[in-house]
Amino acid sequence: MLYRATQADIDLMAAIHASAFAGSDAWSRDVFSLQVALPNVFGLLHPSGGLILVRVAADESEILTLAVDPAARRGGIGSALLREATTLTATMGASTVFLEVSVANIAARQLYASAGFIQAGRRPHYYSDHSDALVLRLNIG
Ligand SMILES: CC(C)(COP(=O)(O)OP(=O)(O)OC[C@H]1O[C@@H](n2cnc3c(N)ncnc32)[C@H](O)[C@@H]1OP(=O)(O)O)[C@@H](O)C(=O)NCCC(=O)NCCS
Repeated sequence: MLYRATQADIDLMAAIHASAFAGSDAWSRDVFSLQVALPNVFGLLHPSGGLILVRVAADESEILTLAVDPAARRGGIGSALLREATTLTATMGASTVFLEVSVANIAARQLYASAGFIQAGRRPHYYSDHSDALVLRLNIG
């Protein structure tokens, strides 16, 4: 059901991201185009409207963004994207997954906690709404 994103999916990725993130927090198609072109970045898409973008560097990987269309939420898409991305990064040699999430983002924090992520740090006033970022880590190796 999930599939790897290519340059042909850039408009779709920007549209999903815009549906999930307010205003200036949404990434443009140019950002997705640049990211997907990088050799150490991959994206996964769900046909009902979900995406995840991941960077792998040596034995670490980082979830760059995760977004599910509001109309498709609470159906397991976010957790499926996270699970598949984590499995793929392990096959690419990563033993740890990192990500940042706003302390105010209860839905995402709950999703990551269910997947076994634990807090590894905190960046004060990191986001545009001045909320702190929590740095979360999952050991997969
Ligand atoms: C966070 C997000 C990706 C979750 O996607 P989703 O497809 O709805 O997630 P799932 O259906 O797989 O939910 C998995 C679990 O996460 C938790 N969860 C998801 N949404 C939640 C909410 N609104 N409130 C509380 N917990 C929530 C629940 O534990 C849920 O399991 P359950 O449905 O069995 O209770 C989605 O809400 C989203 O796109 N949000 C806006 C963008 C964003 O915040 N991205 C992450 C940035 S770090």
